Amino acid sequence: MTQSTSNAAAIGAASGASAKRGFWSSRMAFVLAATGSAVGLGNIWKFPYITGENGGGAFVLVYLLCIAVVGIPIMMAEVMIGRRGGRSPINSMRILTERDKLSLRWRWLAGVGVLASFLILSFYSVIGGWAVSYVGTAASGALSGQSAEVIGAIFSGLLGDPGKLLIWHTVFMALTMAVVVRGLRGGLERAVTILMPALFVLLLLLVGYAMTTGYFGQAVSFLFQPDFSKLTTEGVLVALGHAFFTLSLGMGVMMAYGSYLNKNVSIAKTSVLVSVMDTGVALLAGLAIFPIVFANGLEPGAGPGLIFQTLPLAFGQMPLGSLFGTLFFVLLVFAAWTSAISLLEPLVEWLEEQKGMNRLVSTLGAGGLCWLLGIASILSLNEWSGFAPLGMFAAFEGKTVFDLLDYLTANILLPLGGLLVAVFVGWFMARQALENELSLRGPWFTLWYGVLRYVTPVAVAIVFIYNLV
Ligand code: PHE
Repeated sequence: MTQSTSNAAAIGAASGASAKRGFWSSRMAFVLAATGSAVGLGNIWKFPYITGENGGGAFVLVYLLCIAVVGIPIMMAEVMIGRRGGRSPINSMRILTERDKLSLRWRWLAGVGVLASFLILSFYSVIGGWAVSYVGTAASGALSGQSAEVIGAIFSGLLGDPGKLLIWHTVFMALTMAVVVRGLRGGLERAVTILMPALFVLLLLLVGYAMTTGYFGQAVSFLFQPDFSKLTTEGVLVALGHAFFTLSLGMGVMMAYGSYLNKNVSIAKTSVLVSVMDTGVALLAGLAIFPIVFANGLEPGAGPGLIFQTLPLAFGQMPLGSLFGTLFFVLLVFAAWTSAISLLEPLVEWLEEQKGMNRLVSTLGAGGLCWLLGIASILSLNEWSGFAPLGMFAAFEGKTVFDLLDYLTANILLPLGGLLVAVFVGWFMARQALENELSLRGPWFTLWYGVLRYVTPVAVAIVFIYNLV
């Protein structure tokens, strides 16, 4: 295959079976698309609130460790499977197992991922909807100069109104489906080039503002001074699960993107770059948010509403706040959107390949089902807030549908998917193939291989056993 220069072939003409496959127009294009998938609500919405809930420093340290010893090696493994297989995740797995005469059951590894992406997208879209609705709220000036109480009330007003939530969830899902139905084309690639750096700059601006609150030092020690007495075993599982979630691992997204990656690109360097950028955005979000939390006497463990209750306060007090606030939520929507697209894409691709549906039908079908399931998450924020479907099990006590979906995907399915990837690549694929594919210098290869074979599976297994038994 020759290198295609067309962007269309790059991201989206993804349905391996029918479309002529090409490669990313450049290494940068892959980095941008993978970063677009990785950077999303996980970094800006989820990371700060789970850090707050789990007591700060010690949790952040475990999370960083998980990125380094579990996340990066698995990202490399996933990208490699994709590039070697050159198809959609399930079929790439099939090709690799056939070539090495391994059990075909391995392709269910990609199946776990497709299920996880479906479940994640259902609630991801609801949160994406919050972000969409805040674009309007910020633009209307309703947030400027308001007290923490008023801003808190605006947020609870949104969560308490299933009708409004449904509208915004629908808008977000429609945006996602609109892109997936057409294949992602070059527009996305170009948009990411501009919007990702813009998001970065805006976050830096917010951190700058946070420094003026007088509570920056307190936030830095909250985030970076580990106090292990605050860390629970569940906290460790959450940190591990979040490493997978935030890097878009354990579900074949990176396999799908890797399948378009040119042979001469270094998988290791690229994976490290994407992971570092993703982690950077999360840490910046934390540094922007926690000074505002402390300055206003808010609760770090406030839960999923944290950014929607803190950042508007900052925007409300800074010059041109409505403008910056609007811009921020636009960029947040965009970050969430590129992630949501990467969640829907593998599912649609699988329906096309497996069930022979055309792209329109498969997008409508998969997106429509996700949308429908999303309604359960919406209701669990209000009408069903006291409904804990699996409440009879101690581990799930008090968890609403929304909490359960989050728990099941991030803390169970993604680490499980990642564990299987590590075992498959570390123990079943031929070492020679890995060496060829990665072309790393000796010691680096040994390090990666050792970590993937021993450290990653053992770490994931231990965390699992502690929490689930
Ligand atoms: N990584 C995305 C985020 O942090 C979420 C995501 C998970 C996207 C899994 C794709 C696959 O928001």
